[in-house]
Amino acid sequence: MALSIELLNKTHIKSSFECGYPSLNNYIKTQASQDVKRNISVCYVLSDNPDKTVAGYYTLSSHAVSLEDLPEDLRKKLPTSYPVVPTALLGRLAVNKAYQGKRLGEMLLLDALNRCANLAESIGTMAVIVDPIDEKAMGFYKAYGFISLPKSIRLFMSVKTIKTLQGE
Ligand SMILES: CC(C)(COP(=O)(O)OP(=O)(O)OC[C@H]1O[C@@H](n2cnc3c(N)ncnc32)[C@H](O)[C@@H]1OP(=O)(O)O)[C@@H](O)C(=O)NCCC(=O)NCCS
Repeated sequence: MALSIELLNKTHIKSSFECGYPSLNNYIKTQASQDVKRNISVCYVLSDNPDKTVAGYYTLSSHAVSLEDLPEDLRKKLPTSYPVVPTALLGRLAVNKAYQGKRLGEMLLLDALNRCANLAESIGTMAVIVDPIDEKAMGFYKAYGFISLPKSIRLFMSVKTIKTLQGE
């Protein structure tokens, strides 16, 4: 395998993408390019070169989270003058079944977290939010240190935590 993480472009082969979840398969096949064109999200693909088959992908968007939706211990440390705080949303992440179980999901997740921590150097971003597709996916993220947001199935990791992990 000659894998590289690249921004989605027209040369990537998406038609055979199958991760076990129709919504995530359809998204990369039919919606991702449109969202990128409209600057709604960016989509990074794990490209299996030289034919450029999409082995996996993730999407990132900026996302405002209400202060009241944050865990209380964190909220207490933030100024109440900001009703919402800036975060990055890791909206989707999936690995093609033929490539699953080879630590490529982990590779994509760590790439996304590093990218968000770097982004926080140039635009205020205090955390990464993920929307797990189900309980199983929630387990995947929690194993990497994501914590639950109260009142939702969303998960959260502060940029501070990512930077601590980067330093380890
Ligand atoms: C979840 C997913 C991205 C993981 O990718 P992968 O390449 O198969 O996983 P990796 O080989 O990198 O595994 C890394 C770790 O996560 C665990 N893991 C893998 N898939 C998991 C899942 N669906 N749920 C919980 N844990 C999972 C592995 O057991 C491994 O744990 P270990 O460190 O204890 O060995 C992939 O299975 C997938 O695309 N699933 C369908 C879509 C999905 O659930 N997306 C995520 C949420 S939207």
